[in-house]
Amino acid sequence: MKLLHIDASALGEKSVSRTLTAAVVARFQAADPALEVLRWDLDAEPLPHLTAASLAQADPAEAARAQAALADFLAADVLVIGAPMYNFSVPSTLKAWIDRIAVAGKTFRYTDKGAEGLARGKRAILAISQGGVHEAGGASDFQESYLRFVLGFLGVTDIEVVRARGVNLSPQQRTQALEHALASLPAALPRAA
Ligand SMILES: Cc1cc2nc3c(=O)[nH]c(=O)nc-3n(C[C@H](O)[C@H](O)[C@H](O)COP(=O)(O)O)c2cc1C
Repeated sequence: MKLLHIDASALGEKSVSRTLTAAVVARFQAADPALEVLRWDLDAEPLPHLTAASLAQADPAEAARAQAALADFLAADVLVIGAPMYNFSVPSTLKAWIDRIAVAGKTFRYTDKGAEGLARGKRAILAISQGGVHEAGGASDFQESYLRFVLGFLGVTDIEVVRARGVNLSPQQRTQALEHALASLPAALPRAA
């Protein structure tokens, strides 16, 4: 089995979402020592913004990284995505990754009946962190709703979410939110085959 581990937080070791993705990945590794982990740290090694030059594949090195991002996404059985809230949405580094994996003919296609996701059969676990409290689907949520929608568009509909909210409201709230999120992880444990 292959697991794609994605982080996007710019807060390094203090990151809540990185703490959560690491815990989720550790559970999967414990359950399957042969697990292959495909790692993309989008803060340490960001993908560039998608530009006209990217579409023209003007830079072979950039084109090769984009190909690798797409290949790892397609190869993964499980996606573990760390998604902090930045300005009510996801970090631009995570959006830049999405721009590389949403590829017509590879991960979705348009048919006479509408759009069809081609990346089916994957399971996704989203590790959501927020400084404030933004309910999924609420007026200020362009983070979880967006990720659910775009992954669904690509055919990934088996999505679980681990959330730590209000982490900047107070040190106590941060500790509680992280503890609560970690305690909720059993729901995200590897499932029996
Ligand atoms: C650039 C930036 C923008 C942020 N924007 C928001 C925001 O719009 N709403 C919010 O509730 N928290 C916001 N925060 C707080 C983060 O969501 C919070 O610190 C969260 O823990 C970040 O995830 P991380 O700890 O994994 O980095 C922002 C933080 C940063 C650094």
